[in-house]
Amino acid sequence: MAQDDHSGTELAAADSSHAETVPAVKTGTALVQADAFENPGFPPHRPRVTDEDPNKEKRAQRTVYTLFYLSILGSIWAIAAYMLFPIESNNVGDVRLNNLFIGLGAALALLGIGFGAVHWAKSVMTDVELVDERHKIGGNEVARAGAVKVFEDADRESGFTRRSVIRNSLIGALLVFPLPAVVLFRGLAPQDENPVELLSHTMWKQGTRLTLDPSGVPIKAADVTIGSAFHVIPEGLSELHHGKLEEKAKAAVLLMRLNPDELNQLPERESWSYDGIVAYSKICTHVGCPVALYEQHTHHLLCPCHQSQFDVANHCEVIFGPAARPLPQLPIEVDDEGYLVAQSDFTEPVGPSFWERH
Ligand code: FES
Repeated sequence: MAQDDHSGTELAAADSSHAETVPAVKTGTALVQADAFENPGFPPHRPRVTDEDPNKEKRAQRTVYTLFYLSILGSIWAIAAYMLFPIESNNVGDVRLNNLFIGLGAALALLGIGFGAVHWAKSVMTDVELVDERHKIGGNEVARAGAVKVFEDADRESGFTRRSVIRNSLIGALLVFPLPAVVLFRGLAPQDENPVELLSHTMWKQGTRLTLDPSGVPIKAADVTIGSAFHVIPEGLSELHHGKLEEKAKAAVLLMRLNPDELNQLPERESWSYDGIVAYSKICTHVGCPVALYEQHTHHLLCPCHQSQFDVANHCEVIFGPAARPLPQLPIEVDDEGYLVAQSDFTEPVGPSFWERH
């Protein structure tokens, strides 16, 4: 056992049988002690059946590449199962079948590669006992040449280059294995509809009443006092039975009333508000969190996710944070009964700014 030397003196440790080779140390700065254990050496080498019987070695090779081929079949089955057992109309039975058969395929693909690699190493690769001497970590010429030799030895002993059927079947299995994941990503996109079209539009259209979230009660302009803010959804959203959350994620709006004198509106948007009442998308243009905090005195909206701030008095321009563009404004007006209604859908896509990137 060697004890650390606080003065920086090199540690010394040695076997008692090599005491003459112990480097000189300052008295009192290191402890030299004989190793308490003897090196037991290697156990006797036990040849494997595949080392002694060429037929068994050949059988092991066949097992290895069969496992890799099984892995390929598993990957292909996972892709086929995705198409053969689709999830339709949120049916739980469909979900179970889909998960079961895709899972079986993925499991076979992974287990085939895993068992094949282990069996290759245990039964076919060269079986020798080695001593790996400890040495300094370094990259001198000798070490680099040694590393190259290790790779060459490993290649020769594993037969990676020589055993082309095993090697190619493994490469094939590894290449095919990620394909089920690629196919599964297709399931994230809307079925039978154009995702770009779906993301470009919301439920808002001309005449849609602004209603309270979540009750769906229509809002009259007279009920919106100066300084107030409402969380708003389009009329009819709360009655949707299918796709309600998806629609809400795009159409959620914040409604605020300012003193009209404090509103600095863009000239082309002067008709988009009503008597100081303005409506903006609630979906942050950074990465899509709901912008939920309104500071009445400063007219600032704050997104709690990454602290982007938008100035409602100045058409919701970004005044702080990572958001790259203002919140989209919903043009509004008042119908014959005094209820707030949309003039149209948003005139630009709501949500994250990647829409502006190419
Ligand atoms: S999502 Fe709003 S600041 Fe990041």
